Amino acid sequence: MSRGLFITIEGIEGVGKSTNMDFVHQSLLASGIQVVLTREPGGTELGEKIRDLLLDHRNQSMVEDTELLLMFAARAQHLAEVIKPALARGQWVLCDRFTDATYAYQGGGRGIDTTRIAQLEQWVQDELRPDATLLLDAPVEIGLARAAGRDQAADRFEREQQAFFVKVRKAYLELAGKNPGRYCVIDASRPLDHVKVQLSEVVNHLIKQHG
Ligand code: TMP
Repeated sequence: MSRGLFITIEGIEGVGKSTNMDFVHQSLLASGIQVVLTREPGGTELGEKIRDLLLDHRNQSMVEDTELLLMFAARAQHLAEVIKPALARGQWVLCDRFTDATYAYQGGGRGIDTTRIAQLEQWVQDELRPDATLLLDAPVEIGLARAAGRDQAADRFEREQQAFFVKVRKAYLELAGKNPGRYCVIDASRPLDHVKVQLSEVVNHLIKQHG
């Protein structure tokens, strides 16, 4: 049996990740593809506890290295329990964020040296990398305005200033530029219908190649 496809969805806050992830999931299911939907940080019982630590806005004392290591601790558990077994069974995995988020947020946003992140990536993942990454991209002002309209209280990341997200977005676009074969950049500032058209094209292409 061939290994499943590992697809990740990335983007700053407020770019419509949840809605669009749901759309991609439904499109894959409609094409008869068995897909496991998951997210980072989280995706396992232990990983969700680590997520709570990472997002709790009361954890103001968390230093950058702790944040980085917790991301990779949750990821190690997620890979072992969910991602690798699903791919080995031939299922596709659709993951809301993965290591590109670490490069963007901890590397770009916090300013951690990317060679350190690359060392942890190699350690925790060996050769495993996403096969395709959908980057939902929109100017920071648009994303933050949308995120501000939500009901829930802002988490530890959402409380960051605009300048932080400008750095995160820049890092994402740099990653996309360096990995053109893997990345599809979707213009998420367009109305939802247009975004769905762009996503459908990408999904159809992936299904044609690998489905
Ligand atoms: P979410 O709100 O998209 O579920 O993601 C939770 C937050 O975690 C989001 O603000 C981005 C952040 N994050 C990182 O900083 N580094 C990472 O490696 C991951 C996976 C998420």
